Amino acid sequence: MFHRQLHVPLLTVLISSTCFVTPRLAEGEGISVKTSVFLSPPFFLHPGSVVNTYYFDIPFPRGHIALKTFNGEVIDENGNPVPLHETYLHHWVVERYYGQKGIKDEPGSSKFILVRNSGICKNTLRQYYGLGSETRKTDTWVPDPYGIEAGNPEVPDGYEEKWLLNVHAIDTRGVEDRLGCTECKCSLYNVTVDEFGQPLPEGYIGGLRCCYDRTQCRTKPDFTGIMRKLYLRYTVKWVEWVASVVPLEIYIFDVTDTGQYPSGLQASSSCKVEYMVSPCDSLSSYDCVNVKKTKVALPRGGDIVYGVAHQHTGGIGSALYSEDGRLLCTSIPLYGNGDTAGDEAGYIVGMSTCYPKPGSANIKNGEILTVVSNYSSAQMHTGVMGLFYVLVAEPRNAFLSQRLRDPWFIELEDNWWVLLLAGGLVALIAAFIHRRRNGREDYQLVFN
Ligand SMILES: *[C@@H]1O[C@H](CO)[C@@H](O)[C@H](O)[C@H]1NC(C)=O
Ligand SMILES: *[C@@H]1O[C@H](CO)[C@@H](O)[C@H](O)[C@H]1NC(C)=O
Repeated sequence: MFHRQLHVPLLTVLISSTCFVTPRLAEGEGISVKTSVFLSPPFFLHPGSVVNTYYFDIPFPRGHIALKTFNGEVIDENGNPVPLHETYLHHWVVERYYGQKGIKDEPGSSKFILVRNSGICKNTLRQYYGLGSETRKTDTWVPDPYGIEAGNPEVPDGYEEKWLLNVHAIDTRGVEDRLGCTECKCSLYNVTVDEFGQPLPEGYIGGLRCCYDRTQCRTKPDFTGIMRKLYLRYTVKWVEWVASVVPLEIYIFDVTDTGQYPSGLQASSSCKVEYMVSPCDSLSSYDCVNVKKTKVALPRGGDIVYGVAHQHTGGIGSALYSEDGRLLCTSIPLYGNGDTAGDEAGYIVGMSTCYPKPGSANIKNGEILTVVSNYSSAQMHTGVMGLFYVLVAEPRNAFLSQRLRDPWFIELEDNWWVLLLAGGLVALIAAFIHRRRNGREDYQLVFN
């Protein structure tokens, strides 16, 4: 009784003021790191049900800032973390966009302009941030002096920067087959057509096309459970944008990327995002590891500052190699061992991350990288993923090779007289032309 009463005011505080800003000083830097905690709009789940919802114009830190971390977790109405074996967080994704002032955005609208990351999957994986079950124990901190730029005042006339959040969660309380529900096995969802009413492709037995919004995974006949009101609570750490922050480019590689675009399909992509792991023949192969590899080209080079992979249950590690075979980053899943939120047995609760020593993971323009994703094939898995997310710092003074960002003055600050004497003016004119050309491509609308 007493506890219950305590929770009500706590919840009111939580929901009415969804933002707490607590400045703290970064280690020895003198720049104040601010922390904001927000709640998504509520979503409702009963045993076996699925939400896959897009929330537009979510609460987000405003102003010209450098993002340092982004993490989230599912909580209930009382603010308690919900374990993955009750609500499986398939994924959450945060995308940046320009929305018209005073307009309420919605899926499928052509009124807003997505601002996608630097690549490289066409028409998909456009997010700035995105994780799944591993969100509680995956480090997303960007070391100093780097940051992901947001709130740059330079937006098209009549627009303002906004953020959208996609949450895909599956309630697996009382289901017949927990792993099957989280792997979106079509038979458990009793689904024969996808979200758009199209028949499932031949041989498609599991994946996102079978666990779309408002589908239902099979529960045990006698199980009853209450409808729950849940939130994604997300924490953003950031600093004010200052001249000394070095901006990072975001790239997301996908091990299913074939580099081929099926023709005729408008929103086609070379990245399939999901794939299937067939069970091994335990008599002929003793290790039962499914190794998937692909080669991808990084359009512009630079230093990898941070790397992390995304895998699903069954994943045993992922790696990124340079063109000459150097290991650039390895990311290994951490599985839970218990019952509590953040340590759920059988689930990936974290991914290890890479922070290469400055300059040690350098990539040339157009370099071909190899992405490797390993899964255990001791049993079949459907709808698995092998993504690799990297943050790249482009060379700072390469005026001609680099797509220029707004404050080119900053680059000039230290050596302006040398550069001016050395024909910096020519470079600036070239860069200006380049930027105008690029600007248009960046504002391209892609939403499917
Ligand atoms: C599965 O779907 C069919 C039609 O789509 C329906 O008739 C049937 O009752 C469903 N089965 C279950 C177990 O929900
Ligand atoms: C993937 O599996 C192969 C074959 O077992 C192994 O050689 C490689 O080191 C593994 N890579 C990672 C990142 O686990």
